Amino acid sequence: MRIGVDYYPEQWDKSMWQKDAELMARTGVKVVRMGEFSWARIESEDGRFDFSWLDEVISIFAKHMIKVVLGLPTNCPPLWLYEKYPQIIRTGMDGNKVQLGIRSHRCLNSPIFRAYAKRMADAMVSHFTMNLTVIAWQIDNELRANMCACDVCRNRFREWLVEKYDDLNGINEAFGNVVWGGEYSSISQIQPPSDYPDAWQNPSLCLEWYRFTSFSTADFANDMMCVVKKHCPKIPVTTNAGFTEYTPDFYKLFDMLDFVSYNNYPPVKIYDYADYYYSHAFHLDLMRGLKEQHFWVMEQLSGITGGWTPMSSGLKAGMLMGYSLQAIIHGADTVMHFRWRTALKGAEQFNHGILDHSNIPNRRFFEFSELCKKAEQISVLDNTVILSDIAILYSPESEKALEFQPQTENFSYINQLKAFHSAFTRFGANVDVVAPDTDLTRYKIVVAPSLFIINKKETENIYRYVINGGTLVLTTRSGVKDSNNNCIMEALPTVYKELIGAEVYEYNPIGNDVCAIKDFADNEFICSQWCDNMKLTTAKAYAEYVSDEYYSMPAITLNKYCNGFAYYIGTICRSDFYESFASNLMRQTRIPKLKDLPKGVEVTTRTNGEEEYICFFNNSEKKASISLPKAMYSIMSLTGKEKLELNPFEVEVVRK
Ligand code: GAL
Repeated sequence: MRIGVDYYPEQWDKSMWQKDAELMARTGVKVVRMGEFSWARIESEDGRFDFSWLDEVISIFAKHMIKVVLGLPTNCPPLWLYEKYPQIIRTGMDGNKVQLGIRSHRCLNSPIFRAYAKRMADAMVSHFTMNLTVIAWQIDNELRANMCACDVCRNRFREWLVEKYDDLNGINEAFGNVVWGGEYSSISQIQPPSDYPDAWQNPSLCLEWYRFTSFSTADFANDMMCVVKKHCPKIPVTTNAGFTEYTPDFYKLFDMLDFVSYNNYPPVKIYDYADYYYSHAFHLDLMRGLKEQHFWVMEQLSGITGGWTPMSSGLKAGMLMGYSLQAIIHGADTVMHFRWRTALKGAEQFNHGILDHSNIPNRRFFEFSELCKKAEQISVLDNTVILSDIAILYSPESEKALEFQPQTENFSYINQLKAFHSAFTRFGANVDVVAPDTDLTRYKIVVAPSLFIINKKETENIYRYVINGGTLVLTTRSGVKDSNNNCIMEALPTVYKELIGAEVYEYNPIGNDVCAIKDFADNEFICSQWCDNMKLTTAKAYAEYVSDEYYSMPAITLNKYCNGFAYYIGTICRSDFYESFASNLMRQTRIPKLKDLPKGVEVTTRTNGEEEYICFFNNSEKKASISLPKAMYSIMSLTGKEKLELNPFEVEVVRK
């Protein structure tokens, strides 16, 4: 397990490089990332490349046995390039060019930008081909779906649609443009959705725009990767993912890249409700699921965030180390902290790194040094993997479509996934978050909340899973839309009706109103947001509504289908229901539960085929005591233990 830092040599006087590298080496830093914003320093004039400063700083790190990840600096083209070719500047959805001065102003589809980006990448990668200190390349920085409405993008979007739907008739039909007289009679009339993503506009157009902008970003990343691979076929290539306003489809973005890396900025406030506790873990599990392999954290929270927003609260004692180790136990092999030292200049002066402006070692620095030692201590986890019996399916397209058309007050696609994730996490289970078309055969339980958009391959995959004996959970708002994001003339949940042995004959988006349900064992739970009323064909009721209007109608159903079982949850409940439901499912599918885990404690179990390690993380501000089923060897304290006493944010690893 490796700990590293993000470093910006161009922001510091050269005289500091040596001192910084020395201190990093002494502290236990194994790798630094640099370069991702430094195009202007590398190519200050068109075609004149200067890598000498990078050579110098990399050689300093090499002397200290610190490896380097280089960023291809395409996020920030130099101003001379924008001046020479203003057409490469991103165009907002309002048709105006965005203002220069911060970063990410380039249009990823612009042929001129691409040519310059490739030339820069070619020069940079070929320059460092033989440099063994460089161990990986990062493409750009926190790539977003290419939100540009310039002429190039508009034309590409049109061509992309014609390619998909053959002609204007096909597009009109798919988009339902007859509604409100929106039929295109000429290709030039096709425009990106003006107020994307949140206005009253055609949902089919919005979904295609999301697909197109995601595709543009992935296409750009693949282009850049090819340049790297031309010179260094063996060196791994990644890009750093972050959840932003315009998050692209990560499955597509990472499809061709070698590994996933993630910008991990968990919020530092701890709220006392169940879904919150395990929310960071959910994102980490999602990152591990993108390529179904371990990942890196390329940027890890290290200090107060802020700058253009008011500053966040400071990190509590133990958080810097705890959240980093938490990422490791969920599958991050390398965790790079953002950033070594807080910037003195520029827009991010108050986005704190490990060291403050003063450069005087502080509490976070000492915690970071401790972290570097702990990461070495848990190197027993190096070749271990997380094998899960439970999967939650994440569909970026359904997430987006539900964002375009919010179904009811407070309805959130991602919160449903988190509610299930929290419930299983509460019992110490490993949980994978994976794509709906992934191979599901290895899972005992698969939960697929609100698969709103139908996709034939995914539907078949889900049926196959149940036919072969799997236990599936579907929830309300499944199968609502076809792949064009249009509704379907069929009882809900359309393609899944047969699988669940029931159909919805009426629904009620009750929003913040509440209702109650009672399960087969007479346990009552509050529900809200949505009520599906169902007619059962082959299914039985697992729970019924017990509120007036829907009294005794099925709310949750269970159907035996071929060799498997399919549940359908027709409402949205609070965390107590999901915990009870998860507990029942785990009992039925014989997945072991760790009982009495204190709130906020999460567990991952990792194996190398011979030995198993159980990792505990206390994501709470209270001490947590955990009784182990038998005495186990603690990797952290090198003693046998039957009981663990975890401080807030502490991680413990025991050999089973
Ligand atoms: C990330 C970004 C970094 C830095 C950081 C600040 O999203 O990739 O460059 O801006 O946020 O928290």
